[in-house]
Amino acid sequence: MLGKAVYEQFAPHCQVLATDIDLNESWLEYGDVIDYQQILEKALKFEPDLIINLAALTDLEYCEKNPAITWKTNALGAENMALVSKKLNATHIYISTAGIFDGRQEYYNDFEQPNPLSVYAKSKYYGETAIEKMLDNYFIFRAGWMMGGGIEKDKKFINKIFKQVLEGKKELFVVEDKLGTPTYTVNFAESMFEIVQTELYGLYNMVCEGSCSRYDVAVEFIRLLGLEKKININIVDSEYFKEEYFAPRPFSEKLLNLKLSSRGIDFMKNWKECLEDYVGSYKIHLEISS
Ligand SMILES: NC(=O)c1ccc[n+]([C@@H]2O[C@H](COP(=O)([O-])OP(=O)(O)OC[C@H]3O[C@@H](n4cnc5c(N)ncnc54)[C@H](OP(=O)(O)O)[C@@H]3O)[C@@H](O)[C@H]2O)c1
Repeated sequence: MLGKAVYEQFAPHCQVLATDIDLNESWLEYGDVIDYQQILEKALKFEPDLIINLAALTDLEYCEKNPAITWKTNALGAENMALVSKKLNATHIYISTAGIFDGRQEYYNDFEQPNPLSVYAKSKYYGETAIEKMLDNYFIFRAGWMMGGGIEKDKKFINKIFKQVLEGKKELFVVEDKLGTPTYTVNFAESMFEIVQTELYGLYNMVCEGSCSRYDVAVEFIRLLGLEKKININIVDSEYFKEEYFAPRPFSEKLLNLKLSSRGIDFMKNWKECLEDYVGSYKIHLEISS
């Protein structure tokens, strides 16, 4: 999801070597963050000034059922990439998540104490702590509910809603008891690009402005698609999805960009404005299918 936006943001300005284990784009080369030796050799040849580690297993249910590979990818992978950055004296960027908090309070600023609930969140939090211990020239950016990548790459909420729309569903069921801050990949990548040049290293919450529930996001998305008169959105609570989404999720994952705004480097836009931009890529599919 995020890799595409980051590649498109950085590639016009820098020489980029983009890697993944799933080679679904012509601009990707194979690189596995679990395999330290192989990724180090690749990096030694390329000699990057900046390493951006976006690699992770991000499906919370998969992570819950497969803890070993989750720890290897999200935690050991984070350590490996930090080691490579250290060896090459490269600046490092790691992407963390709002999901590292337990959600007992509504808002979390950059300084509050994480208490991750799920295997995914625990492994991501480990990644944060490893980087903080190992490196000086690093940025950790905590994202919220990610939206971006379009129909082919978006694995999260927006695309899950859109798939139901394409299937012709007229009744959607969406939770209102989960709160968060949406984060648009394109805006996130723009912001990363600006901030990395400031050398104001450290850990930052970096989410779009404005917070909401999943229900609010669904309502806005359907409205922007122009389908509000055709599709009904029913509010349910998380119990309704307890079998499908069994991984523990915090009640609230709302982040505050306290450090970014205090340092005058908060480039994140309002989530509704971002969603409006993002919806364009979905409208095309709607036109084709009708
Ligand atoms: N999505 C969100 O809501 C969200 C929110 C906050 C933070 N984040 C963080 O943002 C970063 C980017 O995630 P994303 O949203 O762009 O999700 P994504 O689309 O799932 O991207 C993660 C990529 O890492 C790849 N990967 C998995 N194992 C790997 C390995 N061993 N070596 C190299 N690559 C590997 C995945 O490949 P496969 O597709 O084959 O697994 C996938 O292409 C991650 O660090 C994630 O934890 C995401």
